[in-house]
Amino acid sequence: MSSDEELRQAAFDAMENAYAPYSRFRVGAALRTSSGEIITGCNVENAAYGEALCAERVAVSAAVARGMREFEEIAIASESEDPAPPCGSCRQTMSEFAPDLKVTAYSRNGKKIVWRLSDLLPEAFALNHLRGKE
Ligand code: THU
Repeated sequence: MSSDEELRQAAFDAMENAYAPYSRFRVGAALRTSSGEIITGCNVENAAYGEALCAERVAVSAAVARGMREFEEIAIASESEDPAPPCGSCRQTMSEFAPDLKVTAYSRNGKKIVWRLSDLLPEAFALNHLRGKE
């Protein structure tokens, strides 16, 4: 099982790979799966600005592509002064697989904030709403 420190370090390591020449705001994310593996992602920007991918969604996609869908925690590292919470789109994507995920954000100067995803995204749209449509 990976420790909080390993997860934090993995998020900062992933941040080093960020491709963010437009915003110059690098983000790294590290997901701990239920099997204890760590899967990482970074933001990947594009000259067509709207095509930018967030670090959290890259990490979730990478994990799902490897057959992992159960997550216990995500660590997010960024270069902001204060820990940066995940954007709305990333909250929705994470909620699909882990509605009560532990979300820990770190700033470059060592501050950290911990949330539960269910607090960041209350009343999330989910599969049960689709099923109840008729
Ligand atoms: N970004 C993330 O990677 N995650 C978030 O939750 C918020 C924003 C990235 C997207 C873009 O590359 C840069 O940060 C500035 O918005």
